[in-house]
Amino acid sequence: MTVNALSFNILDGVAVVTLDLPGSKVNILNLEVLEELNVLLSDLEEMADALRGAIFISGKGNNFIAGADLSLIEGIDDAVRGAELAAKGQRVFDRLASLPVPTAAAINGSCLGGGLEFALACDYRVVSDSAGTFLGLPETQLGIIPGFGGTQRLPRLVGLAESLRMITTGSPVYAGQAKRIGLVNEVTATEHLLDAAMAAVEGRLSTGKRKRTLGRVVEENMERFRPGRKVIANRARRAVIEKTRSHYPAPLAAIAAVEYGLNHGMEKGLAYEARILGEMAVTEVSKRLIGVFHLRESFARGDKSPAAGIADLSVIGAGAMGGGIAALAAEHGLNVRLVDRSDGALGSAMRFLHHDVATKRRKGRYTDIDAQWIPTRISPDTGMRWIGSADVVIEAVAERMDVKKAVFAEAAAKVSDDTLILTNTSSLSVTRMAEDVPHPERVAGLHFFNPVDRMPLVEVIRGERTSDATVERTAAFARLLGKVPVVVRDRPGFLVNRLLLPYMNEAAVLLEEGADIESVDRALMDFGMPMGVYYLLDQVGLDIASHAGRSMFEGFGDRMTPSPIFQAMIEAGRLGKKAGKGFYLYDRAGNRQPDPTVKNILAPHIKGTRSFTPEEIVHRLIYPMINEAALVLEEDVVNTPEAVDAAMVLGAGFPPFTGGLLRYADSAGAVRVTETLGKLSEEAGHRFSPAGSLVQMAKEGKVFYP
Ligand code: NAI
Repeated sequence: MTVNALSFNILDGVAVVTLDLPGSKVNILNLEVLEELNVLLSDLEEMADALRGAIFISGKGNNFIAGADLSLIEGIDDAVRGAELAAKGQRVFDRLASLPVPTAAAINGSCLGGGLEFALACDYRVVSDSAGTFLGLPETQLGIIPGFGGTQRLPRLVGLAESLRMITTGSPVYAGQAKRIGLVNEVTATEHLLDAAMAAVEGRLSTGKRKRTLGRVVEENMERFRPGRKVIANRARRAVIEKTRSHYPAPLAAIAAVEYGLNHGMEKGLAYEARILGEMAVTEVSKRLIGVFHLRESFARGDKSPAAGIADLSVIGAGAMGGGIAALAAEHGLNVRLVDRSDGALGSAMRFLHHDVATKRRKGRYTDIDAQWIPTRISPDTGMRWIGSADVVIEAVAERMDVKKAVFAEAAAKVSDDTLILTNTSSLSVTRMAEDVPHPERVAGLHFFNPVDRMPLVEVIRGERTSDATVERTAAFARLLGKVPVVVRDRPGFLVNRLLLPYMNEAAVLLEEGADIESVDRALMDFGMPMGVYYLLDQVGLDIASHAGRSMFEGFGDRMTPSPIFQAMIEAGRLGKKAGKGFYLYDRAGNRQPDPTVKNILAPHIKGTRSFTPEEIVHRLIYPMINEAALVLEEDVVNTPEAVDAAMVLGAGFPPFTGGLLRYADSAGAVRVTETLGKLSEEAGHRFSPAGSLVQMAKEGKVFYP
């Protein structure tokens, strides 16, 4: 079947092939497109004598090729079939690589996975300098490895160490960096892309060699010989294991494929790559990771049109959060007024922005023009004088109801009646905050997570009087800023903090019973959490956590009784990382080390001498989150297990290989979870009493995801 994704014309003796998959926003490599490419390559082979080159360019606005069709991978239930599929793609790209005329990929926009493997099979790659242009091999993030030659061609182009970094992390590189590492031959303005590709196939490109720094020269020498390669590959393996605690087989498998190919040659390397792709595609981890990918997409996608017309944002409060929100908005093209009563806060927010933009400029993510313009979009001010034209106001001032209400009152008096008025509160009632605001239907929560630029989740909080239109507009606004919105009801702790609070509080209770800080943190890292719980508390700040804990206690009573450990730590000035000491000690650079003296502060509260097995730690800390999630669903804070899982993975870093908190609960089984909670409720306290809906699920043999 042909899908007419490819067309070509001849320009000055060069075949210019345009990829444009009909009916799709992005180009995807599915079986039909691969077959069409195969046929086209036959034509080009036949015409070769009359051609001076071939250029591949996309007909899509901001995308070269987004990757292979995911449903192909999902459909693989047998490793041998998976290997055959990879081999099929490899054969097509091999043909591309051996075309007897020079070839160039002209790339504007995302070039990912199979798309980059396509480009790697060309002789040259030229890219646009647009901020939306990036190249990467994200396959290991989905539990598989690049299977269309990526593990073989990338290291031969950019070197072993760099290729392993790209493949094991899955992180993309932007235009400037791609040029520096030798991945692309030329970076140019979008409108000159075709000219640059022409110059490439005609052999007129002067540049293209990667920069040779001292480190790079050393690496090149090491890579030349097998033992040197082994050293580099083992270094990459250690980094992967340290980060993933062996929960993710794909990055290690990819390292093996890269190393094997360099040791045994391209042909054997490709066969090895195909075999491993098949093996990875059938793993449970891969199925789960692809599930998380879809989950994220389903919340991220949605309609952006309700946010059309939002161009002007006022952020009140320029602290850690307000500064981050202002920077994010400016980077997404909005005009921002940043208001704080403190000059110092405004100054540091602007310094942070300049630093951030400069870093991204260095990485090639922004052009010089972007880097010049973005900071000018923010106007700092010590008062709300000029906020009248705002389409959206968001407050991120101190976490106190009276302060926030005063800010809302002042802002509402200045802006028009349909300006969205939003709060970034992490624990206060949005409904109460909106009480005295004229037209409270336009008030909602928009809860970002810290650090703003890195955490994909935002919670959109629907107060009791928030209108549907406001919820939609706020969610669309979040998408406009590149965030993934999950809509939640206005209950204490909203969603993510509500689930994290029992986890953090229980961690303190474990200390009372005699647990050791580092062993618990290690067990949680081994479970797959991105960091240990005490380290997390240090990051959040003990004062902030304790404040949130008190609101939860007020909201939910006994079940959330705060451990006295928090108060003891606060009184001792151990507020966490920002104070240089919390459960751990921190040096000026923020590096952490254990601190034996913390025991002295805890001593008056330690009632036991128990130690806990990793399994007990999971039962005491993770199972209460499942229990709380069941309650959250009972109370309609959100109404689907998908919302819980998306929020926990994207907002709290719950291990993606599990598929999410409630997928994990399903694999443990409601019976086991309720029995364990029931037992803990007898032994350790009623706070563990299983939720009614969980007990029911256990009785009826039900699961969160039928
Ligand atoms: P922060 O203390 O770093 O910043 C607050 C800023 O607001 C300060 O610069 C202060 O000068 C300014 N401010 C206070 N009252 C003001 C007023 N009346 N007018 C103008 N400016 C005023 O606090 P942070 O951490 O940025 O938190 C801000 C809000 O974001 C709080 O509601 C907090 O609960 C919430 N939040 C914090 C997170 C975190 O991890 N820090 C995460 C998510 C939400």
